[in-house]
Amino acid sequence: MDRAAYEALCRELLDHDRRYYVDNAPTVSDQDYDRLFARLKDFEAAHPADLLSWSPTQRVGHTPTSTFPKLVRDVPMLSLDNTYDEAELTAFHERVKKGLAGEEPAYVVEPKIDGISMELKYVEGKFRLGATRGDGTIGEDVTQNLRTIRALPLVLSEPVTVDVRGEVYMERAGFEKINAERVAAGEEPWKNPRNSTGGSLKLMDPREAARRPMKLLTYEVVGDGPAKTHFQLLEWMKHLGLPVSTDITRVESLPALIEAVNGWASRRLSLPFAIDGVVIKVDRIAQRRELGATSRAPRWAIAFKFPAEQAVTRLQWVEVNVGRTGAITPLGHFDPVELGGTTVKRASFFNWNQIRRLDVAVGDKVLIEKAGEIIPYVITVVERGADRQPIAEPTECPSCATRLEREEGQVALYCPNRFGCPVQRARSIGFFCARDAMNIENLGPSTVYQLCETGLVKDVADLYDLTVEQLVELERMGEKSAENVVQAIANSKKTATLSRLLIGLGMPGIGEVWARAVAEHYRELASLMKATPEEIKAALLALHGFGEERAQKVSAFFAEPRNRVVIEKLQARGVSPSEPRIERIGPLAGLRLCVTGTLTRPRSEIQATIEAAGGTFEKSVKKGTHYLVAGADVGATKLKDAQKKGTRVIDEPTFERLARGEDIGNG
Ligand code: IVH
Repeated sequence: MDRAAYEALCRELLDHDRRYYVDNAPTVSDQDYDRLFARLKDFEAAHPADLLSWSPTQRVGHTPTSTFPKLVRDVPMLSLDNTYDEAELTAFHERVKKGLAGEEPAYVVEPKIDGISMELKYVEGKFRLGATRGDGTIGEDVTQNLRTIRALPLVLSEPVTVDVRGEVYMERAGFEKINAERVAAGEEPWKNPRNSTGGSLKLMDPREAARRPMKLLTYEVVGDGPAKTHFQLLEWMKHLGLPVSTDITRVESLPALIEAVNGWASRRLSLPFAIDGVVIKVDRIAQRRELGATSRAPRWAIAFKFPAEQAVTRLQWVEVNVGRTGAITPLGHFDPVELGGTTVKRASFFNWNQIRRLDVAVGDKVLIEKAGEIIPYVITVVERGADRQPIAEPTECPSCATRLEREEGQVALYCPNRFGCPVQRARSIGFFCARDAMNIENLGPSTVYQLCETGLVKDVADLYDLTVEQLVELERMGEKSAENVVQAIANSKKTATLSRLLIGLGMPGIGEVWARAVAEHYRELASLMKATPEEIKAALLALHGFGEERAQKVSAFFAEPRNRVVIEKLQARGVSPSEPRIERIGPLAGLRLCVTGTLTRPRSEIQATIEAAGGTFEKSVKKGTHYLVAGADVGATKLKDAQKKGTRVIDEPTFERLARGEDIGNG
């Protein structure tokens, strides 16, 4: 096999992937596929220098990552406004018509997949980079894990440079299978396919991600490609080899739109994956441009959310729940009932006022509702129980018996014993280990409770002193699991970022966005610890969007001696993370460029352009350098060298176009 035949074999295998994973219509047997794959592997083993980065053998990278670099986008990924009924849908149609000076638009109706939205960058037809939506502007680079998704084409059928947007998700069956495996391994099951997908995309080891049954559907292209309508756009995307939904309807009037939307309400359950509604989009691209977008959402599209599912059940008893921050909330326990595909036994009442307002008592029949993925809650009483027992608001914390308090003008009841209450402590430690925080896998809530009860762990820093010998003493903890826990705790020192640590410490009012803002300002835990409370407050107040109240909360947290003791203990155990710098997701993201010869601008300026566009500047052409930007007087040796290493040579005007994100063809 020569190089050309090797490349053809790569393409052939990727075609088979598409037919199998996207079209559900394989044309070869598994055996034949495996034979072709083995031939490919043999060739690559014998000719390592010829290895193509987009070869199907390269879906699973070999090196686990420690962080997911943050990327800033120039064109933010927008959200969608929601509608819930015919009247709101009609109002949307009227707004669109008005925006188009009375013209009647045609619409496309497509399923709204309940997954994790993603932007995929293809450069000259090769998959280069993929990032989550994040907050719209700042996303996370999860390329290595995305590559493992077999429905994601590593090469397109044409060498185009495009940014594609879509959704990564899991089918119900695949989700249930991995959840069963988790339960069998003694791990917490995922709440729903969406959470499971999110967690899988954030796995540090792509080999593990490759085992998760993730799928992909794409639905937009930034700049709309060559299409005049959305329908044509989807056709073009399909032609490129991208997975697009097969269940798309085009309608030309409001009544037809309403009919199409209603048709989905029952059909949704026949899909193998969860959808939480449909998306309605103006079909003509020119009309979309005319309508434009607000800072939040396009004016040419809207989501129609399906009504929440409801069921009637009987309230058995009310548990007094103590939260991580001391909030005391009523949690209802009910006769088990089927709701939206799961059995519900518990539902929240939010707060004690709610119980009074609903006038609900133990023994009553109530209506519960589950909207999307969140925990179900109680809507109303439908039938009073014969021997109903009223529910009294507690006065003492069920965990530590401290007298409960209520802040002036607040509905929430809370236990003020922040540092001494055992349940608050256990929950804080659980929170520290959570996926969004220090991501200590294998340490579920029941283990954390046991660790607290036995006194082995009094604060989060104690986790880092745990030994395998101590852990095997716990219930349901074997030697292997204990080793895994110790390993996971040790790993968290290396993988955590400062913002994740700040999230894990659980400062009131400081979620992911604000933790990141603090971390990006200070970069190192040590610098944050060195600052005085006044300095912290002043520094945070100067940050965009950080209000007085929030700055005060962070400052007070670091002023509290008991918090400082824990943080110093953490530092002494080697937990001292820093915050990585954010890369820009420019047109050159993921590309490595070298510059040679005389150009119209100084080399340093070209370097700045490359870096501003998200690319990497290289001093010399190496294996894997994507482009050599050559001036007029470039020497023959340099060109030969580039050719040998598979680096494409481009001239300065072509480079400038590339850096602006324009398609430069396959050269
Ligand atoms: S279009 C600017 N189409 O729903 C257009 N979004 O609630 C925005 N989603 O962030 C996206 N299926 O993650 C579009 N067929 C579909 C979709 C879809 C699911 C997600 C997407 C978006 C969210 C908004």
